[in-house]
Amino acid sequence: MTDPILRVQGFHSGYDGVPVIHGIDLEVAEGELVAIVGANGAGKTTTMRTIAGLMHPFKGCVLFEGEDISRKKAHETNRMGISYVPEGRRLFPKLTIEENLELGAFTKTDREEIERNLEQVFDLFPKLFDRRSQIAETLSGGEQQMVAIARGLMSNPRLLLLDELSLGLMPSLVEKVMEAVVSINRSGVTILLVEQMVQEALEIADRGYVLQTGRIVQQGTARELLDSPEVRKAYMGM
Ligand SMILES: Nc1ncnc2c1ncn2[C@@H]1O[C@H](COP(=O)(O)OP(=O)(O)O)[C@@H](O)[C@H]1O
Ligand SMILES: [Mg+2]
Repeated sequence: MTDPILRVQGFHSGYDGVPVIHGIDLEVAEGELVAIVGANGAGKTTTMRTIAGLMHPFKGCVLFEGEDISRKKAHETNRMGISYVPEGRRLFPKLTIEENLELGAFTKTDREEIERNLEQVFDLFPKLFDRRSQIAETLSGGEQQMVAIARGLMSNPRLLLLDELSLGLMPSLVEKVMEAVVSINRSGVTILLVEQMVQEALEIADRGYVLQTGRIVQQGTARELLDSPEVRKAYMGM
């Protein structure tokens, strides 16, 4: 792989000195859609939060476009082109869709750029434009997830980190959300997503990593993982 946009090397992370991620390596090439799949508690969110700069690795490094970002804070990584859509959506429930979206551009100061990004996001999610004045808490779970993704796009990221988009959604909505992810990726945004819904994630991904108790136990093209007897047995009930 030539010059990945993201490279994680020998990466350990955890909480209050207690390790949760025990030395993982992964790469994402520009334009790729990569999935990290694994069960609840495997360390997916910890990995994402550490890449985004919400916490810092104990050991190892995170390179973004060749630069070591492992000591950078979240607002700095956001400014550099990484956007993290957190698990559980984390919208501001009393604010409108549009206000929530604007907050996604918190590292931007150029009003014209914010307006331009808002327009792009509304092009991608026309339904959100129609309902831009609606209070976020009155939306369904699926709609809220779309707003959370759209908010993540408001900083015009080159790398979008998506954490467990399927959480709490009905299967039909999971499918819709995954379709949205594919169209974002096709529009040129590199995507790293983490999912417990292994099959759904691998069906849209180019490549994947299987994370198990803080270690990568398998990796390959999405097709290889979907066909892998271990993956099928452990995560797809087959
Ligand atoms: N804030 C926290 N403080 C201490 N331990 C945590 C915290 N958040 C998660 N953990 C622990 O880290 C491990 C990995 O959690 P997490 O990264 O959230 O996994 P996943 O996203 O794959 O479900 C779990 O054992 C979890 O209990
Ligand atoms: Mg999680």
